[in-house]
Amino acid sequence: MKEYPDFPNLFVVDHPLVQDKLTKMRDRECSFSDFRALLRKISMLMAYPVTESMKIGTRKILTPLIEMDAPTVLDQDPVIVPILRAGLGLVDGLLDVFPDAIIGHVGLYRDETTHKPHEYLVRLPKPIPQDRQFIIVDPMLATGGSAVHAIDVLITRGVSLEKISLMTLVSAPEGVKAVHGKYPIVKIFTASLDSHLNENAYIVPGLGDAGDRIFGTI
Ligand code: PRP
Ligand code: URA
Repeated sequence: MKEYPDFPNLFVVDHPLVQDKLTKMRDRECSFSDFRALLRKISMLMAYPVTESMKIGTRKILTPLIEMDAPTVLDQDPVIVPILRAGLGLVDGLLDVFPDAIIGHVGLYRDETTHKPHEYLVRLPKPIPQDRQFIIVDPMLATGGSAVHAIDVLITRGVSLEKISLMTLVSAPEGVKAVHGKYPIVKIFTASLDSHLNENAYIVPGLGDAGDRIFGTI
């Protein structure tokens, strides 16, 4: 993973398999179906770094040859929190790895003029499980307004800040600064730290509107 001295707690997953898929997704010729399939695969690959700190212990098993103390994950599967709509594109790949994950939803859309997020739905497990990691997922971290709002929502509902991490596909420096300006301890895992935002607050070079490319609403 690549780390940047100017952005502590930002982890860029620079594995060749992730980078190759991201390049295909950025290509404007990428079809909706390929875009969705690639996003699912990337999210599955990113599950490994995002959950690297899961607790591991051992349990006794019998192999066909001998008894052994074999490694086993002690932590429960996480709560995955997609920011609707586009975050939904990252859920299935994580469920491939964590079939017992709980899914919470935070529905937000960005106002086209102000670029501020507007909340239209929140569904989280009740009561909030204190023993699970919460992974907020959204392909795009642009101004950071949506990600900050989603973290605000989780904290207001009783999730401990140290349990929250953020997984994105493409991030702008402006968004990373916004999230870490308010929540410096939240780890951000992303496949790319891009250059900047344009005048419409779109990430450059980016991949366009992720939600539209996933759902075919261009
Ligand atoms: C996009 C994206 C993020 C948000 C990022 O969602 O999926 O949620 O914008 O921008 P920000 O960092 O400036 O807040 P959008 O509002 O377009 O909604 P959609 O997912 O329904 O398309
Ligand atoms: N939302 C997107 O889908 N893409 C961007 O570049 C910025 C916000």
